[in-house]
Amino acid sequence: MIGIKILGTGHYVPDYVVTNNDFTGIVDTSDEWIRTRTGMNRRHISLGEPTWHMGMLAAQRALEAAGKTGKDIDMIVVTTVTTDFFFPSIASIIQEKIGAVNAFSMDISVACAGLTYSLDMARRYLATGDVETVLVIGTENLSNFLNYEDRGTCILFGDGAGALVVEKSDKPFASWLYTEASGVHQTYCKRVRNPLPFAGQPEYEELLPFPLDVDGLIYMNGREVYKFATRSMPLAVKNACGKLGWEVPDIDLLVPHQANLRIIETALKNLDFPMEKVYVGLQEYSNTSSASIIIGLDECARSGRLKRGDKVCIVGFGAGLALGANAFVY
Ligand code: ACO
Repeated sequence: MIGIKILGTGHYVPDYVVTNNDFTGIVDTSDEWIRTRTGMNRRHISLGEPTWHMGMLAAQRALEAAGKTGKDIDMIVVTTVTTDFFFPSIASIIQEKIGAVNAFSMDISVACAGLTYSLDMARRYLATGDVETVLVIGTENLSNFLNYEDRGTCILFGDGAGALVVEKSDKPFASWLYTEASGVHQTYCKRVRNPLPFAGQPEYEELLPFPLDVDGLIYMNGREVYKFATRSMPLAVKNACGKLGWEVPDIDLLVPHQANLRIIETALKNLDFPMEKVYVGLQEYSNTSSASIIIGLDECARSGRLKRGDKVCIVGFGAGLALGANAFVY
């Protein structure tokens, strides 16, 4: 089997911290509501630091941990839903900044499931032999796209980035990916259109299953995403592990996307899986979308909680509604 070896991990979050109490002056909410409904206490906010810059700092930390330099990297995948640019890709900006002169690079958009899709891509490119070392980065600047009049979403997100350096190995690796597109309208962030100075423009917006009035900011039907997450996470974990012939109890460490503690607890209950083997970091970072799982892997690797030979499963879900899990040996 052709799998992956994670050579090094890194993460970065901005210094500026917003507590639950800080939101009480912005929307009608309370520390108690946020803590009991989500498990979140704090989030790190970028205050204008661009998405690419956070990704670059995480990438530098992962390269250092891997004992590599930019020149060793053949391929860079950045997963983000909060890019600074429609073009160029922020992967190419980071490529230039870290001196990855031998690489090709791209951004992908799979919301909070982005890492699971990126790792799957990395493994497939590694398996062809066309590349030897891949840098995967998840970086998000969600605070920049929040509707600070919507108490149901603005309290949920934080900013930050994580990165992994991976190479080919004969360790087991499996992915299970799925997009439930019937839920495409449950969470979205629409581009603000440039009004054109020409008459007779057709109205394609009517063809989309989105309301017309929310532009440029994050909309989410929390209840529907919650239902999707609790029902689909156990399925993704079981299916990814099943491809390797693993039973769910075989997993040494489960790193789920950090969207809500109640989602994680309910999904685990459905899986009959113990909380002691699960990473939870949302109390400190809140939901950092495609960065959240990498931040978790990096914290576990650096603290010694994650050891070589451990069986790991990561699982993400988000806008799309996208779902993905990877099972692998660290
Ligand atoms: N403070 C106080 N009250 C609030 C707040 C708040 N911050 N937010 C909502 N409420 C109120 C609502 O208005 C509602 O009041 P009402 O009953 O008078 O109408 C009440 O609390 C209950 O609202 P619910 O939406 O039912 O609350 P719920 O328990 O479902 O929690 C939450 C909301 C936290 C958003 C939850 O649904 C959730 O976590 N959903 C999943 C989010 C997620 O996973 N997102 C990841 C994907 S995002 C992406 O891909 C970019």
